[in-house]
Amino acid sequence: DRSHNGRQPKANMEELDAALRQMADSLMPTPEERAAQMEAFEWVKSLLQARYPGAGVHLFGSVANGLSVRHNNDIDVCLELEGVDDQAGKAEVAGVVGELMEAAGMAEVLPLPKARVPVVKFVVPRTGTKVDVTVNNLLACINTKLVADYCAIDARLAALVALVKHWAKQRAVNDPYRGTLSSYCYVLMCIHLLQTRPTPVLPALQQLQPTFRRAVGQWTCEFCDNIEALRGFGAVNCESLAQLVWAFFEYWAWRHNYSHDVVSVRLGACLHKDDKDWTRRIGNERHLASGGPAACPPACRCLPSDVCIEDPFELSHDLGRTVDRQTRAVLHKEFTRAATLLRDADDPLDLLFAPY
Ligand code: CTP
Ligand code: MG
Repeated sequence: DRSHNGRQPKANMEELDAALRQMADSLMPTPEERAAQMEAFEWVKSLLQARYPGAGVHLFGSVANGLSVRHNNDIDVCLELEGVDDQAGKAEVAGVVGELMEAAGMAEVLPLPKARVPVVKFVVPRTGTKVDVTVNNLLACINTKLVADYCAIDARLAALVALVKHWAKQRAVNDPYRGTLSSYCYVLMCIHLLQTRPTPVLPALQQLQPTFRRAVGQWTCEFCDNIEALRGFGAVNCESLAQLVWAFFEYWAWRHNYSHDVVSVRLGACLHKDDKDWTRRIGNERHLASGGPAACPPACRCLPSDVCIEDPFELSHDLGRTVDRQTRAVLHKEFTRAATLLRDADDPLDLLFAPY
């Protein structure tokens, strides 16, 4: 009897699955929400193209990769300008775009020229859409395509992401500015989970013969985007959405080795922090004292230290670096809470998604 195993959910998995599917469906944006986002985008695009004739204006992020959820009225817009490559140039354009949006009557205009990726934030008053405009953010456009391609391979990815993003918002662990993780980071964690099931649901597109290639600065973005050939890849894995949700939380609560592992969607596996030279990051004090994280025994289950998630293309970018000592404990507590609820409760969903 699996319910006594201690590592399997107690609830009836079929019922749990039906409830989670229904919930994932109800989290999909309504046609009205999509229309409002497109209206906002078209207006922003026309303003940008009036100021920068011939410039490319692209939508990226969740609205473009099919992973947006309801009641999240955000859009991510990339302004593509020739000859603006360095940080200073992008910061300057961000300033100009800020003034432009202010003059056009946008609300809450906030340029952040010094951010890692210079950005202007504002709200389109009529639709209430929150917009982020970045300049020549080509890597983000390409990782949006990568994620969209993963979504097209197996529909369980979008459903899992919807539930995880909803959970993260409800539990207040979806705010990189406050030390927790971005939506994009959760998306990568979901892809990684599906790549690493005993029978994979998703391949590692960057390990296959590349059919898409772009160089962006020092980074080479290469992956297989021949999705037609990969449709049905995950069909040999029969796990339900409920099993995958359980697997996600169980992995981050009890299986992930926070001291050693770097999650890599590029490899479809974890690599070791030593391999990434990310060992400067905290690790277990006891092990640090005895020679650094390299001294951790292989089976070590150190207390939760860092969350390390490698960006698929910008390989030096650790999406977990927003997490500090305090928030890493909060995150681990939330993963454990979720996994424990799923394991022990007869009817876990109300509590699982309860507002923090
Ligand atoms: N992005 C990135 N690096 C980050 C954060 C974001 O490249 N550290 C890019 C990704 O292309 C991502 C997009 O910016 O898809 C938007 O990020 P975010 O808003 O966090 O993710 P969404 O998938 O748009 O989620 P949400 O629906 O919550 O807006
Ligand atoms: Mg977004």
